[in-house]
Amino acid sequence: MTVDPNRLDALLHEERRFPPPESFREQANFNDPAVYERAAQDPDAYWAEQARHISWFRPFDKVLEWDPPHAQWFVGGKLNAAYNAVDRHRQGARKNKAAIVWEGEPGDSRVLTYDMLGREVDKAAHALRQLGVQKGDRVTIYLPMIPELPIAMLACAKIGAIHSVVFGGFSAAALRDRILDADAKLLITADAGWRRGSLIPLKSNADQAVDGTSVEKVIVVRRVGEASGASMVPGRDVWWHDWLAQAPTTPCPAEEMDAEDVLFLLYTSGTTGKPKGIVHTTGGYLVGVNTSMRSVFDIKDSDVYFCTADIGWVTGHTYIVYGPLSAGATVVMYEGAPDFPDRDRYWQIVEKYGVTILYTAPTSIRTFMKWGPEYLQRHNLDSLRLLGSVGEPINPEAWMWFHEHVGHGRCPIVDTWWQTETGAAMIAPLPGLTVTKPGSATKPVPGIVADVVDEQGNPVEPGQGGYLVIKRPWPSMLRTVWGDDERFRRTYFGKFEGVYLPGDGARIDEDGYFWILGRIDDVINVSGHRIGTMEVESALVDHPAVAEAAVIGRSHEVKGQAITAFVTVKEGVQTGPELVQELKQHVVDMIGAMARPEEIIFAAELPKTRSAKIMRRLLRDIAEGRVLGDTTTLADPSVVDMLKRQYKDSE
Ligand code: WTA
Repeated sequence: MTVDPNRLDALLHEERRFPPPESFREQANFNDPAVYERAAQDPDAYWAEQARHISWFRPFDKVLEWDPPHAQWFVGGKLNAAYNAVDRHRQGARKNKAAIVWEGEPGDSRVLTYDMLGREVDKAAHALRQLGVQKGDRVTIYLPMIPELPIAMLACAKIGAIHSVVFGGFSAAALRDRILDADAKLLITADAGWRRGSLIPLKSNADQAVDGTSVEKVIVVRRVGEASGASMVPGRDVWWHDWLAQAPTTPCPAEEMDAEDVLFLLYTSGTTGKPKGIVHTTGGYLVGVNTSMRSVFDIKDSDVYFCTADIGWVTGHTYIVYGPLSAGATVVMYEGAPDFPDRDRYWQIVEKYGVTILYTAPTSIRTFMKWGPEYLQRHNLDSLRLLGSVGEPINPEAWMWFHEHVGHGRCPIVDTWWQTETGAAMIAPLPGLTVTKPGSATKPVPGIVADVVDEQGNPVEPGQGGYLVIKRPWPSMLRTVWGDDERFRRTYFGKFEGVYLPGDGARIDEDGYFWILGRIDDVINVSGHRIGTMEVESALVDHPAVAEAAVIGRSHEVKGQAITAFVTVKEGVQTGPELVQELKQHVVDMIGAMARPEEIIFAAELPKTRSAKIMRRLLRDIAEGRVLGDTTTLADPSVVDMLKRQYKDSE
């Protein structure tokens, strides 16, 4: 496990407590502490009660069918996710309420009311049907943060097609892998995207990615225009606006989906092998995400909710698209970088739209700390009433800064622990009820049964580290890994029978508060992005100069973790700064910019155990300059000294 020593110190010595302000508690959706007790006594009844906030075409017969590791939730229920996220709001008082308030990076903006959003979704849904896309077909979506992204997702949901959104920062090769794995029929992309004033060549990546795959048609949104340099392949490529122009403008009936029909796939990194297509289904996912909007985010009709994540990650799926929209909220969606054109962009957005709830990541908060408070001081942030954090453990300093400089000491902070696999927030405060401690995600939300256990699966004493586990199924849990149920079993339920293993280490303190310590597997969390060491290693050894590579995550002040790669080269290869650059670029080409190693260290040899396993712990210690632990299992201890010297040389 990679645990930041400062973190252990924080959890043992943190004495600051932040009870919910009385005025917040009074108005909170969840302000009766008995909810925890009630949910613990009868979780099924609790979830059935929450499910009433979702519109069902046919009510479910049974709340939960648990045949470990497979769960079915809301058995027999029929519903549609797009209907819940859009159409039901069009029929009542929210018809002309802003659903999506979109801010483009260059300064353009667009507001879609629920009714307008519904019409766009219906056109796209008709257009999908006209192309022959059917219920259960996979559609890969590779778009920047523009309104067409949620529209495309919701159009898929409306007709029962399964969307697989691939983050726009992924390379052509990574996109291709995900298209192949999902066996997608259709790709929806854009000519290009904007990032810090530069173009991201989505269409040209898409061209490289689709060749020889199952993709028959490519739909292209014109985001940038001429400057994108995108070219269209006749017969295969269609402009989004042309595609929609020929679609009927009549309402598109929503497909009646079974609660357990697949809603989407979302690929995420694991310890070994290629990225996994995490499978989420319709009923449980919607109930889970909608519940957390009301409980953890205290969503109200008067809120303007801004989640700074990209929809290409689960945080955006859940807390930009399905969560806020199913709750009928107004959601702010921003296309670009926080420092474009200046470092006050988020605060400018908060002021411009009167954002009331802001959900962001510790890495962003640490970046703002580095930039200094003057960028916030340029703007009126009085509209804010609740703040959220996600993606990695938040250090108490960042928590306090968020509290003071963004929340002006007034706004509760919800530090939400969850994962792509869990679908929705799992360990988090309820802002009207929970006394928070800086750095702790506090307690499992009602209906979630979590614990920290030892190697044998026994609960550990307070303060002891162990494996975080979830002991009972929950509605928005992943159902399987796309095309590989065995991998699902092994990865998540292989260690403790019938108990879900998230892959994080944690401690519970004397007050029952959870402190997440970080991943216990070979997953690196760079700025809240999950990257498998294996993926980066595979990308490196794919380069002709490389013989062997070992990749580790070392702690990094702003990013949380940074990627360090130790590389041995083939006979006769000349090492040097050019090769370093070339290898870094190779990783970017194979995966994407977020996986670019921070540093590459050439080594004559990698430290291995006698059974030929690379000793990553040792490499991490070297990269973080720590005193080395036990090296007696090392096949050749002199390798360590050599590596230490080489690491120093490269600094
Ligand atoms: C980490 C993002 C501590 C954790 C929603 C988890 C966190 C992984 C927190 C999932 C948090 C996320 N405190 N760690 N509040 N939130 N993590 O799938 O290691 O991209 O397993 O989902 O991020 O990352 P994923």
